[in-house]
This record gives sequence, structure tokens and C-alpha cells, in this order.
Amino acid sequence: MAAATKGTVTNLLEKLNLASKETGVPPKEPSKEELDELRKRYEEHKQEQVFTFWDELKVPEKAALFEQLSGVDPKYINEITHRALHPPEKDQKSKEDKKSEDDEDPEKDEEAEDEKKKEAQEFEPLPESASASLLDSKTEDLQSWYDAGLKLIAESKVAVILMAGGQGTRLGSSDPKGCFNIGLPSAKSLFQLQGERIVKLQLLAQKKHEKESVIVPWYIMTSGPTRKPTEKFFQEHNYFGLPKENVLIFEQGVLPCISNDGKILLESKSKIAVAPDGNGGIYQALLTSSVRTDMRDRGIEHVHAYCVDNCLVKVADPTFIGFAAEKKASIATKVVRKRNAKESVGLILLKHGKPDVVEYSEIDKETAEAKDSKNNDLLKFRAANIVNHYYSFKFLESIEEWVHKLPHHVARKKIPYCDLENGDTVKPEKPNGIKLELFVFDVFPLLKLEEFACLEVKREDEFSPLKNASGTGEDDPETSKKDILSQGARWVQAAGATVESEKPDLEVEVSPLVSYGGEGLEFVSGKNIKGPAVLEKEN
Ligand code: UD1
Repeated sequence: MAAATKGTVTNLLEKLNLASKETGVPPKEPSKEELDELRKRYEEHKQEQVFTFWDELKVPEKAALFEQLSGVDPKYINEITHRALHPPEKDQKSKEDKKSEDDEDPEKDEEAEDEKKKEAQEFEPLPESASASLLDSKTEDLQSWYDAGLKLIAESKVAVILMAGGQGTRLGSSDPKGCFNIGLPSAKSLFQLQGERIVKLQLLAQKKHEKESVIVPWYIMTSGPTRKPTEKFFQEHNYFGLPKENVLIFEQGVLPCISNDGKILLESKSKIAVAPDGNGGIYQALLTSSVRTDMRDRGIEHVHAYCVDNCLVKVADPTFIGFAAEKKASIATKVVRKRNAKESVGLILLKHGKPDVVEYSEIDKETAEAKDSKNNDLLKFRAANIVNHYYSFKFLESIEEWVHKLPHHVARKKIPYCDLENGDTVKPEKPNGIKLELFVFDVFPLLKLEEFACLEVKREDEFSPLKNASGTGEDDPETSKKDILSQGARWVQAAGATVESEKPDLEVEVSPLVSYGGEGLEFVSGKNIKGPAVLEKEN
């Protein structure tokens, strides 16, 4: 649908010569007929307020607004807003999400808790047939998954997608999260850690399989606000040693912001307010950006997708790729054990017999605290979603068949808007509208259980997300830094070194260029390392 709309819009723009940004041609006011046609479309769907200030706009502003409005289908926006606000009974997926900025109301809270309890009757942990755990798998299985994955990487059949379209508002920084320096001795950013892991993995696969070159293309999904600064950061850092042609930055879509009474909000007299369409926008963006075509042209068969905020992420992890490929999964996902009943993570489980994710805000206290019937030390629902997904390329070839089925979630927000009475910008103090977001995992329930697989991994090796501002003590820059440095210390100790430190924590930063996952550190055997230390090069 969006792809079709975009095509039409592009043609229209070409006709109107409005695409001044790309062509350098001065913008031109649309003709009366063109304007009338567009206005009619908005009037039919009771969204004509977007034209309130039309008559007082200058030509370039009219051209820009015309372009923006032509790219939006008001009928579709009304439909998804309605569906998001009134989800069908059975599928409460699209109800308001945790990112809402609603004021607390105890009565509403109680009602919501009862509602969640009712919902939870449909939850079951994933069966053993669909899951495996690195915590108790046989060494030979682990080795065979790793070997199989590394072979696929060596054959250049593996690609990586990074979801980096979020704005990191909780972190209190306006830069894209990937640019964040978590305070390591090397001062490396999250993007750099991830990029260098790809560099190292390519070398490992190349060496093991005696290839001339190995390419793991890295597709980076950005959004309106993060695209330009991300591109600049990559250019300034020379793509972290990766060939530029194998790092492809693309952009997810946006959706209009809607007022509490269902109207598309204006941000200014000549612009409607929009926001990124959520990390589930990835699927449509793979199509509109031609990323999927690029993957097909390169002969990609296996894809790893992950979130930017995890400093420990094992990018294109051979074990995960090998595991999912062996299971012939359409989608696989990694989980860690939920720390405690209160941790703010989504849970992977079965809902109505289908694989699904239930966000922490959607689960009642009793269900969150329930214990495993076989082991009272473990939570019954403990498979914490760390948003590391495997997709078979074959599955991604079917996006068109299901992408329109993904539900939109509602986040109630304080959205700055243009007052229709006088054109002034208003910064509301209470939530005045909603943003509509797609979630990347909402594709899970579209699969049969046997097409899905789940791998439990060790938290200390794979998951340390950066969510909060410095000093909050949980999932903040300090915990990210600590987790990288203690992992390095564990690795060198396992390789036979001793580590000394005056501080309580052992701190060794091992560059991803030296070791991807703890391998290749024999050269430290028998050495005494004084922390904090950095191993940037072998020897
Ligand atoms: C997410 C998961 C949650 C999981 C947690 C683990 C979703 C919806 N929820 O929650 O189940 O337990 O991570 O850390 O995925 N992003 C985009 N475009 C957008 C919005 C977000 O690319 O429009 C990207 C962000 O850049 C980030 C990732 O998606 O890399 C996750 O977004 P974030 O908002 O941080 O998700 P959480 O609420 O933390």
C-alpha cells in the first residue's frame, strides 16, 4: 500500500516539478485542479484542517505541504488510527503501549490490571521443541552451529540489519544512539563496536575457509531525525574499516501524529506533524528502500537484525545463524533470562498457541511473578526479548503478503502542534495526541510454531542495553561500559592471563578487531594484565 502510494507520489512530483530538493528545479505551486483533487481527498475523510493556512503560505511552503500531503493517504490513516484505538477483542496487541505519557489514574490502573490477567490466560512458555539454550546445550551442538554459521558467512550468504531509527529520548541525547560513547578507555561508540565486529568476523570466516574475501553487508535503518547525523558519523569514521559499498544506510517511514479527537496534527502552518513508524517499519522499508533487492542481488540467504543500543550484541553471530539455519526457521530470536519479575523487557511466549512477544507493560503482576513448575528458582515466563532476530531471506521474500496485517500500537504523547485558530506553536503539558508505531516482533504470530525458533543466550555475553541517562544505575552508559570491560577481563582470564586491579571490578577492553567472541587470545596466556587495560592489537 505505502509502496504504491510512494510510486504515485513520485510520478506526480515529477509531473509537477516539485521535487526541488533532488532536481534543483525551483518549486512550483500546484495547479488549481491538482490542489482541488488533493483537498477533496482530505475533505472526504474529514481531515481538511491540514489546509487551514494554505492561502497565506508562500509558494515554496505550498509546494512542500502539497508534497507532504500527497504522500499520505487520509483514508488509510483514519483506518489504522481506528484499528489501533479499537483493537479486536482477541488481539489486544495494538492497545496503548508503555511509551505513553499518560497521567496516572489508579482506577484505570486497576481496570487495566484485571484486563491483563484475563489476557494472561492465553500465555504459555514456548515449548522445548521450539527452543534451545546456550546455558545447557551440548558442546558438540554449539560447535556445529558455530561452524555451520561461519561457513555461511564465508560464502557471503549472511547480511546484517541494524535498527537505528529510534531517537533515544530516554537517554537524554539528541544524537543517534549509535554515536554514543559509553566511556570505554578507547572511547569507541556503539556503531564502532558493532562495525569492528563485522570486520573481525569477515576475517575469521575468510581465514578459516581460505576465501579471497568475505562480505557481510551491513544495512542500517535510520529515520528522518537520525539519517543525516548517522551518515555523517559513518563518513567521519571511515565506515569503521568496512568498504563503503557494503554499508547501506536507509530510512524507515513516518506516520502522521494524530490529535486525541482523531485529526492529523499540523506541526506548523505548512507541515503536518509526523513521527517514525516504529521499528516494525523495517519490513516496509526493506521494500521501499530497495534493500531487499540488494540482498537478493548479493545472494543473501540469512539475515541477522538487531537493535543499536546493545553494546554486547554479537553481530551476525555464527552460532545463531547456524542454529536457525539448522532448524530451517523462517524467524528465530534470541532471549536472555529475565533478571527478575520487574525487569522492563518484553517476553517471548506462546499466545493463543502462536509465538509472540508480550511487553512488560502488558503483563499482570501475578503472571510476571509466576514460578516455573519444574524449578521454583526460575520464573515461568523468563524468556526476555533482546530483539536479536534471524530471518531466512526466503521469508523476507513474502513481506508483501503480510506487512499490511501488522497492528499499529498507540503511544499517547505530548506533541507540539500548530494552533488552528492563530497559527501559534503550542507545546502541550499533557498528552494531546497519539503516535502510531509498528513493532518488529508483531510478525511472530503470523508464523506457525514450527517455523519459529528461540535461542537462550548468556546475558553477560550478549545483552547490555543502553536505555537510560548516565547515573540512573540501570541500563545506562556506566553499566554498558562495565559489561564490556568485565567481559574482556573474563576472556583474557579464560585465555590464561591474570588480571590485577586496584578497583573492585576487573577492567580489560578487548577490541573487537582482536577478538569477536573471546577467541584468538592465546597470546595473553601467562601474562599479568593490570586493569584498566586496552588490547587494541594482537601482541
Ligand atoms: C525493545 C523491545 C522490547 C525489548 C527491549 C530490549 C520493541 C518494540 N520492544 O524495547 O520487547 O525487551 O527492546 O532492549 O522492539 N527503533 C527504530 N525505529 C523506530 C523506533 C525504534 O529503528 O521507529 C529501534 C531503536 O533505534 C532501537 C530499537 O528499535 O534500536 C528498540 O527501540 P526502543 O524504543 O529502544 O525499544 P524498547 O522500548 O527499549
